[in-house]
Amino acid sequence: MDRPPGRRADPLSAPQVLISEAEIDRRVREIASEIEASIEETDELLLIGVLRGSFIFLADLARALTCSRKLDFIAVSSYESGSSFAGEVRLIMDVRTGVAGKHVVIVEDIVDSGRTLAYLIEVFAARHPASLRTCALVRKPHQSQDVAVDYVGFDIPDEWVVGYGLDYNNLYRGLPYIGTIEPQE
Ligand code: IMP
Ligand code: MG
Repeated sequence: MDRPPGRRADPLSAPQVLISEAEIDRRVREIASEIEASIEETDELLLIGVLRGSFIFLADLARALTCSRKLDFIAVSSYESGSSFAGEVRLIMDVRTGVAGKHVVIVEDIVDSGRTLAYLIEVFAARHPASLRTCALVRKPHQSQDVAVDYVGFDIPDEWVVGYGLDYNNLYRGLPYIGTIEPQE
């Protein structure tokens, strides 16, 4: 059917809900409790969010925690556009905060091959944190890198997911739920 002149076509059909807003909310609170159960009461956390996909998860997680916590961000590049893999992982924006002696939690949106997280563990372990843990909202099966994720929100099937920070071509990040779409290569 023709669309009205001037109106931008929706690039894809609406995502199918995979994880609802309520499920995410519940799980984020549980993860916050898991994190707090695994640190000493006197420990201060440094949460490092991996831009851009983790920004909503980190915002909710940071508010669900009650321990002393600092926030910082890093940016990496690995996927060039859409879902096509562009090659190696690079740190394109570093933290401002010193990591040495800190209890660090790297907060990722999604672990797919595990390459990004494996790279980040290597980078931050070399800076001598007091402890280094990893947290991902969702994890896909069949990681090519055997990477330890200490806190996982949801294990999901091998489908492209969007929403709650996750994107397809930088779209859909603002959806309150996590949904699946069919990526167009
Ligand atoms: P990995 O290095 O293969 O584990 O990929 C991790 C990165 O790929 C994530 O931080 C996301 O930016 C991106 N990614 C992988 N799968 C998806 C997906 O289903 N939706 C959105 N982004 C994804
Ligand atoms: Mg990412």
